[in-house]
Amino acid sequence: MPSAVPEQLSPVVTDVQSRVPRSMELHRRAMELIPGGAQLISRRPTRYACGVSPVYAQRAKGARFWDVDGHEYIDWVSGIGAIILGYCDPVVDDAVRDQIGKGVNFSISSELEVELAEELVRMIPCAEMVRYTKGGGDACAVAVRIARGATGRDKILFCGYHGWHDWYLAANLDADAALNNHLFPGIEPIGVPRALAGTAIPFAFGDLTSLGEMFDAHRGKVAAVIMEPLRSQMPPEGYLAGVARLCREHGAVLIFDEVSSGFRCGLHAAQGFVGVTPDMAVFAKSISNGYPMGAVVGRHEFMEPAANMFISSTYWSDAIGLRASLATLKEIRRRDVPAGLLRFGTELQTRINAAARDTGLAVECGGLGFHPHLHFESDDPQLKALLATLYIQEMAKRGCHGYASFYLNAAQGPAELDQTEAAARETFALLRDAWNSGTLEQLLECELRQESFRRLVS
Ligand SMILES: Cc1ncc(COP(=O)(O)O)c(C=O)c1O
Repeated sequence: MPSAVPEQLSPVVTDVQSRVPRSMELHRRAMELIPGGAQLISRRPTRYACGVSPVYAQRAKGARFWDVDGHEYIDWVSGIGAIILGYCDPVVDDAVRDQIGKGVNFSISSELEVELAEELVRMIPCAEMVRYTKGGGDACAVAVRIARGATGRDKILFCGYHGWHDWYLAANLDADAALNNHLFPGIEPIGVPRALAGTAIPFAFGDLTSLGEMFDAHRGKVAAVIMEPLRSQMPPEGYLAGVARLCREHGAVLIFDEVSSGFRCGLHAAQGFVGVTPDMAVFAKSISNGYPMGAVVGRHEFMEPAANMFISSTYWSDAIGLRASLATLKEIRRRDVPAGLLRFGTELQTRINAAARDTGLAVECGGLGFHPHLHFESDDPQLKALLATLYIQEMAKRGCHGYASFYLNAAQGPAELDQTEAAARETFALLRDAWNSGTLEQLLECELRQESFRRLVS
């Protein structure tokens, strides 16, 4: 029998007297009907200030959403990164509505498949051929299958988070629970075949020497390296070029996972931004403004063999995702969204840092402009967790939903900056006073949030 559900994934205690009673009531019902309560770990209420933060949304528009308890929020998580233009973007939604009128899933292929492939090849440096999926984890699994098929090898070296599939969770079949440092401790590889042990091996971001040693230890057996090229910091100088060189020397496929970064970084995606072209790359969230869509792209040499592999699914050709992606990518280019996000995020950092300076709270808003994040300056992990939970709690009460990092979208503007700066000033002052008087815990109106993904790519 599998062992008990690890504590991080355990059901939460609900409190119908909370600030968000309707959300908590729905959550209680969900826990009886839906294992784990939600479809995505990042949507579990324990990731936020449970009982204070919203759990269920009713509708969203632009930069904001409204929860089922009638509260309005700025969404600083942007649909867990899936929203890049803003909710209900009129151009994308008009295109989707038009497509609905024409049909959404045909018995034969849609010409949109070819049009979108041409668009992706124009925009992404490594793209010569393209396959589609409906999400990021699927796209990673397809890319890994193609790399294994194209090289005839089994082992995958990876860094960071790449979805829920067997190929990835296999890393935790090893005795030292390899994913503990990559996600969060306690993920059991329940249901993942033991026979996959030793096929997915994690490496530490930024350390070229240890990656080289891993290639040597598994000489001739590594099919691919899959990694995010960056998240909110620039990678160390020369690091990604070094990874590409090692892959070339050892005949392994280099796959960039651009599911979260992608066109937030630049019009030629993250690979264009960092100036290193991989062999293959996967995209999802930032290509379709919330409509389900994923893409696997790469050089002809590696992608073409996929024609003979069994990689096939009915909904990968669905015309809604194709049409939404075409419209989203066109709008990203027309509005130069990456440049706008960088400008906006840099202004957000400036204003949050001014709030920190003026209130005297030891917190800094750093990271690259298009993905700012907060850093509470303390060496005590317990204290940091407490500060982060309190920050989420107090910002939620002031209409700002999110955690200690900011997923930007193009609908955020001056009103969101003003409201967030004002909320941060009040929150920081509250935390400063409680920190100074040793009463931080008394501010808590919820349990400490459970640790979010530790992605290892900073
Ligand atoms: C880098 C990366 N890869 C893969 C995934 C999985 O994507 P999805 O949740 O669409 O399956 C995510 C999702 O957060 C991601 O950030």
